[in-house]
Order: sequence, then C-alpha cells, then structure tokens
Amino acid sequence: MAAQELRSQQWFGRKGKDGFIYRAWMKNQGIPDYEFQGKPIIGICNTWSELTPCNAHFRDLAESVKRGILEAGGFPVEFPVMSLGETLMKPTAMLYRNLASMDVEESIRANPLDGVVLLCGCDKTTPALVMGACSVNIPTIVVSGGPMLTGNHRGAQIGTSDVWRYHDDVRAGILPEDELMTIESAMCRSQGHCAVMGTASSMACMVESLGLSLPGNAAIPAADSRRKVLAQLSGLRIVEMVKEDLKLSDLLTRQSFENAIKVNAAIGGSTNFVIHLLAIAGRIGVPLALKDFDPISKNIPLIANLQPSGKYFMEDLFYAGGLPVVLKALDSILHRDCITANGKTIAANYDNAVCCNSNVIGTIDTPFNTATGLAILSGNLCENGAVIKPSAASAHLMQHTGKAVVFENIEDFKSRIDTDELEVDEQSILVLKNVGPKGYPGMPEVGNMGIPKKLLAKGVTDMVRISDGRMSGTGFGTVVLHVSPEAAMGGNFAMIKTGDLITLDVPNRTLNVDLSEDEFAERKRQFLAPEAIADRGYVKLYTDHVQQAHLGADMDFLVGGSGSQVLRDSH
Ligand code: FES
Ligand code: MG
Repeated sequence: MAAQELRSQQWFGRKGKDGFIYRAWMKNQGIPDYEFQGKPIIGICNTWSELTPCNAHFRDLAESVKRGILEAGGFPVEFPVMSLGETLMKPTAMLYRNLASMDVEESIRANPLDGVVLLCGCDKTTPALVMGACSVNIPTIVVSGGPMLTGNHRGAQIGTSDVWRYHDDVRAGILPEDELMTIESAMCRSQGHCAVMGTASSMACMVESLGLSLPGNAAIPAADSRRKVLAQLSGLRIVEMVKEDLKLSDLLTRQSFENAIKVNAAIGGSTNFVIHLLAIAGRIGVPLALKDFDPISKNIPLIANLQPSGKYFMEDLFYAGGLPVVLKALDSILHRDCITANGKTIAANYDNAVCCNSNVIGTIDTPFNTATGLAILSGNLCENGAVIKPSAASAHLMQHTGKAVVFENIEDFKSRIDTDELEVDEQSILVLKNVGPKGYPGMPEVGNMGIPKKLLAKGVTDMVRISDGRMSGTGFGTVVLHVSPEAAMGGNFAMIKTGDLITLDVPNRTLNVDLSEDEFAERKRQFLAPEAIADRGYVKLYTDHVQQAHLGADMDFLVGGSGSQVLRDSH
C-alpha cells in the first residue's frame, strides 16, 4: 500500500493547521518528523489492568509487539481500553462486554491507525475487542495473553475448574475451610488466564480457528518465553497485513465461523463461546444463528482432553503441540481454504503439526468422550433455544424427567438452597430465573448453581439445572443455560412453577414442560413484569437495548459496523 493511501496520512500527511495539530502534540513524546511520513501506524489495543489479573502482564507483552512493529518499519502506538476482569467485576463482567466493545470501536475509528493488534486475555476481553474491531474493519491481529501454568497443591495438579469441586467439598464437610486458603495460593501461580478450557482459553482457540491470530496463539503459556516471540512475530505481521490491506472481513467468512464452531465442540469449549461468536458474526455481517451451531457441531467428539470436560490443562495442550494439532485432527471436516492472519490458509498452518501426546490430543476415531461439546435445545420451555454442554454433563441425566424446584432469583436461591425445608431430591430439576441479560442484569455465570447441601451429604454430585444465565467455561454438570426468552421477558420460562414436570432430552435436543397452551396463557395473564433495574447510566442503556442470548446479547444498535472513515476534522 502506497504511503498516500495509508489511513493515518489523513491525519499526519496533512498540511497547514490540521497537520500541525495532528503532529505537534504527538511530538511531545519525542517523535522525529520521518515517523509521520508514511510509516504504517499500528495501534496496540491494550486491556492491561491490575484489576484484570489475567491481563496484568500485558504492558510487558506490548513491548514485544512493539519490537516486531518497529522491525517491520511500522510505528507502534499503544492505547488503553476498558479492561474486564472476570473475577472482580460486579454484578458480572458480561454486563460490560458491549461497553468495552464500544470503547474499542470508537478508539480505533477516531484515531490515525492503519492496523491494530488486540491484546486479549481474560474471558470478556477477547470478544469485546474483536467485536469492536469488526465494526471498524481495518487490518487486525489478535495476540492472546496465554494461560497460567498449571497449579499444584499437595502434589495434585489444579486449575480453575477445581474451584467448584472444592466449594462443594467444603459445603459437604469433606474439606476444611482453612485448606481452601492454601489452595487459593497454589492455583494461580503465574501470570496468565485460567489454565483449563474455560472461556478465556476457548476464546483464544476461537481467534486461532477463525484465523485472527498467528498459528499456535491459543496454547502457549503466558509465562513461556515463546509467548513473547509470538507477540513479536504478530507485530511484524500486522505491518505486512496493512500493506496487503488484509482486513477482518477478508478473514471472517461463513466458513471460518463454521471452523470455529467445530473446533469449539472438539475441545469441549465454553458455552459462552456461542454467545460471543453470535455477537462477532453480527458485527462483521456474517449470517449465523443459534440453531446453526447444532448441525455444524453434531457428532464431533471430544478430542482435546482438557478440563472441565477432560483431565488436562492448557500447559499440557501446548506441550502436545497446541491447537494446530487439534485442527489437523479435524482436517476432514474443516474448511481448509480459509485465509488466516499470516496470509496462508488454515490448512497450510496446521498441515505439518505433530501430536506429541496422544493422552492430551486424540483423533476423531479415538476421542476422549463421544459426547459432543455443545447441543442446542428447543421446546416449549425455551421458545428461542437453550444450550447445554454434553461433554461436561452426566450421561445418566441426558434424558431426564423431574419436578421443577423453582427459584425466582439469585437471592431466593441463596436463601433456600441449603435449608432443611427445601423439598428436593436427586430427581428434581433446579430452575433459576431472572439471571438473564436484562433480568440480572448482564447474564452472570450462576447457571451451574450448587447442589442442595442435603443432597451433597447423600453423595449427589450432579442434577439437571436450568436457567436463563450463563456458566463459567470452567464449570461442569448437567446444566441447561441461556434459556431464551429470559424470565424477565415474560416468556414461557418465566411461567414455570415448582412442581411442574420438565423433560430434558439431549439426544433429541428438546426441553419441554408438561403444560398446556391454555395453562401458559392463564399464567401469562397473571405475570407481573419485574421493575426496571436502572433509571440512568450505562445499565439503563444496556437493559433498554440488550438483545436476548440467542442473538449474542449484543445491543441492538451495535449490530453491524460503521467502517473506518471519519470525514470531519476536530478543529
Ligand atoms: Fe480471567 Fe478465568 S478469570 S480467564
Ligand atoms: Mg470464566
């Protein structure tokens, strides 16, 4: 691309007052004239924050990206955007995914950038950055922060998925509370994001299978020096991508989305993947619906033996050869010709991959679980669909009928779940309402609600649980999520009462409650919509505009993009 065609020259290539203003203030950073005379200006979109521990090493990582950009003759400019820490943010980081995406989109569009490197790590930072960048659509590459090293406690390997187990063990009286303190110091023992196939790892695999990163991006641990090498190479590559004008819309095709869906099923990826991928597709304008996920991922078994569906950790995936080995194992069902960020096809990137540990990465013929990673349900309990992760669920509950035990909201759940009075047995189906996008708000990860204490004491470790919320990608169990429409919308799900007979049938992909249309209609007549949660600020904007889970929970006015052109000047 010739210098005069560079987007950044619409700022820095100007003469007179405007060019003066655009350059003069930048020069306070000690930048010589020639930097403004036609070098590709590359933004490094950084979600570094000490409040986002998974991304706390990103200033360091950005230095490696800068080195690559400089080496290729580009000019790096690092800028911060809103960072979303999964563990600290209340009521849930998901409430702010769309807000962060707006920050990213407008920061890129408003500034003299020719290309951008997205530094993503913790769960929501990846979709937020990719969504925002899609709505601008300039050359973009993703560098993930990498997973933590595997935790170790008294000789046992541990990771985030163990949080849920240990919590239940404490409630069941098997594990002393003090021991938890020791475990919490042992689990997160290095920089990086959750070390299991939780949402952050699923998102890193998603960007690699979509072709938005260099090959190998997903699995290199944050603490491994090769993470910095990948960052430097990505910096080098984005400058070439600008010269080639290789934009997100060139990489993100229907075929690349289908590849990502297949990979997510094979790795037992997070159910959150569904929501984020739908939102990304909406931004880039690729038609994709919730119902598409099931036929695309059907019959794909679990071939990455990683927690929570399997046994191992992201560090093991890296040593076994990383995601390219998984992709190669799926070769017969992937679209081989999708172009990726390095300009090569996805198949060219994985063709030479070698599996170094068949205990960690299997093949379609030798999977670790024949249950797929994702099933989309439909029925009168979820008019617009719901999601379950069979690979992390119990085989004996895949076809199950039980009486509903309904909790109207999270407070109701917390106050009654461990009481002796709660009428519940292992056949019951726990139903939690008002944890959806509008109802909570923000659709928190409470869908894998704890088993009642008195059943834990009897040794029950799983039950069918249904909600309009999400589950952490590190969670497991027979958990039906993302019921749409959510309870706050007053659809059928909102009408369920304790004692109603619910049937989950995963093989047939159905979720129904034994209620007649007349009974639904009668209950809807008596339904009182919940009161508005906020009357001002971002939360009001969000609850007024957020779409339901089956549409990706993006805000209605954010779907699509506005491109990269800004015609008017600031002075
Ligand atoms: Fe950040 Fe799990 S808390 S990835
Ligand atoms: Mg998570």
